[in-house]
Amino acid sequence: MKLSLVSMIATCVLLHMFYTRADDDEATIEVEQESDAVAESIPYSTPKPIGNVYLAEHFDDPGAFEKRWIISQAKKDDAEEAIAKYSGKWSVEEAEKNGLVGDLGLVLKSKAHHHAISSRLDKAFLFDNKPFILQYEVRFQHGQECGGAYLKLLSHTKGLDLKRFHDKTPYSIMFGPDKCGTDEKLHFIFRHKNPKNGSFEEKHWKRTSSIPKFDDIFKDKKPHIFTLKITPDNSFEVLIDKKSIQKGSLLEDFSPPVNPPAEIDDPEDSKPEDWDEHAPRQIPDPSAIKPEGWLDDEPEFIPDPDAEKPTDWDDEMDGEWEAPLISNSKCTIGCGKWKPPMIDNPNYKGKWKPSMINNPNYKGKWKPRKIPNPEYFEDLNPYKISTIEAVGFELWSMSDGIVFDNIIISDDPLVVDQWTEDTWALKKEIVDRETENVLVRLVKYTNKHPWLWAVYVLVIGLPVVLFISFCCTTTPTSKVNFLNNILSILFVSKKCYRFL
Ligand SMILES: *[C@@H]1O[C@H](CO)[C@@H](O)[C@H](O)[C@H]1NC(C)=O
Repeated sequence: MKLSLVSMIATCVLLHMFYTRADDDEATIEVEQESDAVAESIPYSTPKPIGNVYLAEHFDDPGAFEKRWIISQAKKDDAEEAIAKYSGKWSVEEAEKNGLVGDLGLVLKSKAHHHAISSRLDKAFLFDNKPFILQYEVRFQHGQECGGAYLKLLSHTKGLDLKRFHDKTPYSIMFGPDKCGTDEKLHFIFRHKNPKNGSFEEKHWKRTSSIPKFDDIFKDKKPHIFTLKITPDNSFEVLIDKKSIQKGSLLEDFSPPVNPPAEIDDPEDSKPEDWDEHAPRQIPDPSAIKPEGWLDDEPEFIPDPDAEKPTDWDDEMDGEWEAPLISNSKCTIGCGKWKPPMIDNPNYKGKWKPSMINNPNYKGKWKPRKIPNPEYFEDLNPYKISTIEAVGFELWSMSDGIVFDNIIISDDPLVVDQWTEDTWALKKEIVDRETENVLVRLVKYTNKHPWLWAVYVLVIGLPVVLFISFCCTTTPTSKVNFLNNILSILFVSKKCYRFL
């Protein structure tokens, strides 16, 4: 009880100090100033690609943006009239928080609207014989409930009209994140041209494993970069924030597969009338005869005639207890019905069963016969995706404030790496310093106000001490007393807190 009194007084004093000190907002002002200082201490200038690019869009020049990017005036094909228009607003702005000074991005502005905006590349990208690298940055400033943030790479087609960009506009590749509720996706779709009849079919990337912490990108409000690399050997790689998510092959990792099966089920074939799918694979051998002298009724185990009752037998071990009993002083050796242990029966044969033979009537599951697939083709070079002429966002979103930035298409990995260093890497530094700062600031602040250490010790230590003390008191009476003491401490603390 003495100990409880001491800790009670200590809590009271510390609470008093905590509440009086917490009033000064010196701390919050410090935090905001530091955050601005971090952004200002990382100088940013509009990036310039160091080599060949097909597009390198940083959105920093609003004048150039207006000329180059076209907001769609089309209507979405299969939507209800009220929401059929691409009426979502776009703007070019700095990030709301922790952005680089002077760095603008393309921002999706309207909740629950269709948005469509697109821009021609500087020059078309032909999938002839060079690597294709696409990278862009997404930041969900307000998180994401339900909506996409993927990019469409629009195909070169006769009379491609960006003012009429809509959901059916042919694209070569669609790539990027998408989410609705708990369904989070990273799309990578390419449209493959059927070499037999020239029609296009969407091929969807089959992810082989889940992406660690993928849901974070939708809620952490930090900038993330998505990278897609496709090489002329038909391999591809997907990266998020420079980390490889999957390497794979256009020929193997897509659904439906690029190449159809060589054989298909014969549609003409049908299951014969007398086909019994349920006949068992094996049946008892009808020609088997039970050997003479087979003993069906002989038990498998018999008592060992040579065994003797052990001298220290104790029937209590059988557990056949019913009413409270006292130990029978007569049972020094053993009580109850004694049974000798079991041994294998030398005469055991078990129930007779005829041996098994293959069932002459067995057919199994019926399968139609195979014929060559009339639509078969083999395209060994799906890398040759349709030429890309423009990029566009065609999105529905329930959350606004999505920033897109630093879209680059190149055939040179070094160009993309440098672009990343000049853009996303700087933003990441701000974000990293921010996170680091929370802890560093806490320690700094505590060092300035050392009494806080006592609060930490008390807040963490007291419950532990109380718990241990409670567990170590043995009798129920002392446990009750202990609880009474705790309750009275709480009661007094409350009074003390009110008094303050
Ligand atoms: C081309 O072939 C594919 C697959 O064989 C088929 O699904 C599609 O309907 C065909 N398209 C045309 C235009 O014939």
